[in-house]
Amino acid sequence: MKDAYGILNQISADMVLDAATGKGDFINILKQNLKSFTQIIGVDASERSVDYAQKIFPENNVEIYRMDLEKLQFDDAHFDLVCLANALHHMEKLDLVLAELLRVLKSGGRFLIVEMYRDGEQSEAQKTHILLHHWLAAIDTSFGVYHGKTFARHEIEAIVQKLKLKKLQWCDFYIPVDNPKDGRSCEGLKRNCLENIKRLETLEGTEKLIEEGKAIMERIANVGCASPSRMMCVGVKV
Ligand SMILES: C[S@@+](CC[C@H](N)C(=O)[O-])C[C@H]1O[C@@H](n2cnc3c(N)ncnc32)[C@H](O)[C@@H]1O
Repeated sequence: MKDAYGILNQISADMVLDAATGKGDFINILKQNLKSFTQIIGVDASERSVDYAQKIFPENNVEIYRMDLEKLQFDDAHFDLVCLANALHHMEKLDLVLAELLRVLKSGGRFLIVEMYRDGEQSEAQKTHILLHHWLAAIDTSFGVYHGKTFARHEIEAIVQKLKLKKLQWCDFYIPVDNPKDGRSCEGLKRNCLENIKRLETLEGTEKLIEEGKAIMERIANVGCASPSRMMCVGVKV
């Protein structure tokens, strides 16, 4: 984690875009770790997430808007730093979204991507999280919400290479957990699984997914769960 924050510590940016901000978790990381910034704008398509994020950032230098990344309502070259954190595999039209993000970034500005990957060296507890993630993606898909499988590391690299950024910096990191079988967080995850199983019971033809969910709950109890490894990549737009 230190290296990832170290990359952020070097960045001074005036206007910052946090694309697919969700509930704004990455905005908190930016606020705490960027060398300096003037304004952070978070955008997301989800009304619920936007309502939540608008409430938790009352300060004037953070603004949250509901917006589709496929059609950003910003002028060309508006931002000095554009971030897409933990959201690459949520993009249905990834090429279109990346083109939009590049459009609103100034030449000489920085593009930052954070994304978990499904391969590489992952502990058994991290593998639980990856299975859980893929299960949740399949549930979203069953309910008509796009959520792709997580990428392999080389796939993320290939996506970044296509952006033709210069001065690329890469770093792999994970959020360490003391005890992956920690009662409280495992109980929370199991509750989340049960809620999703209940949702699945309202749909026909989801028996296999329900069984998968039960197996994941057992795995959480037996080997625990931990946040998977991610990569952070930052490059400069030519
Ligand atoms: C896992 S969340 C990312 C959360 C956040 N960036 C973080 O690091 O905590 C993925 C988000 O992508 C958003 N999303 C997916 N497609 C989108 C689109 N076309 N335009 C805007 N947001 C989109 C979803 O609404 C969801 O909030």
